Amino acid sequence: MSRKLRIGALASGGGTNLQAIIDRCQDGSLPAEIVLVISNNQDAGALERANRAGISTLCIDHRRHASREEFDRAVVGALQEAKVDLVILAGFMRIISEIFVEAFPNRIMNIHPALLPAFPGLHVQRKALEYGVRFSGCTVHFVDIGTDTGPIIIQAVVPVLDADTEATLSARILEQEHKIYPRAIQLFAEGRLRVEGRRVSIDPPDDRCPPSLVNPAIH
Ligand code: GAR
Repeated sequence: MSRKLRIGALASGGGTNLQAIIDRCQDGSLPAEIVLVISNNQDAGALERANRAGISTLCIDHRRHASREEFDRAVVGALQEAKVDLVILAGFMRIISEIFVEAFPNRIMNIHPALLPAFPGLHVQRKALEYGVRFSGCTVHFVDIGTDTGPIIIQAVVPVLDADTEATLSARILEQEHKIYPRAIQLFAEGRLRVEGRRVSIDPPDDRCPPSLVNPAIH
């Protein structure tokens, strides 16, 4: 049997995406193992979830480092020491520097709660509501040196309803995040992702065409 993919995860918050991935590793449906969880926030729920799953954790406080680069060097050092094959950002609320991206080229993934390239940055569920889009969703992408600009691996679309609040829309998107992030990692673990410029192709392809979505629905 081939070796399991070794994952290092970075998280700042509650860690529900991390939990979805831990669950898929534990039930054997994802041929991967999270070997280290790093947070910049010692109160992150993600650290507690990792501890409960018996995963090594590390808190690296960005406020104790003089610059973004110095913080990133500490994070990269820990990830390299843990011999990770893939780094996943799972609700990691810090912009990472060139030093970090260059240490793991096309080996860092991020989940973003909008349909990129629409609404990069923060508070994007609120921005989607304010803009009045009829659909939003989530995106898993490889990380490059821009903010939320890297090659897109997988996206899920959800409708935005008239009655939505930031909380209800966020919850609808989060449910999809928990599905597409493990799937993207699975494709990586299976060696099926090819990156050419901005485009990521899946080899062998999975080109079953979903029916189109219309919102509000036409009955
Ligand atoms: C998720 O919605 C994720 O997409 C978002 O933070 C939330 C973390 O939730 N990430 C970003 O906005 C990155 N800029 P979680 O801690 O429960 O996984």
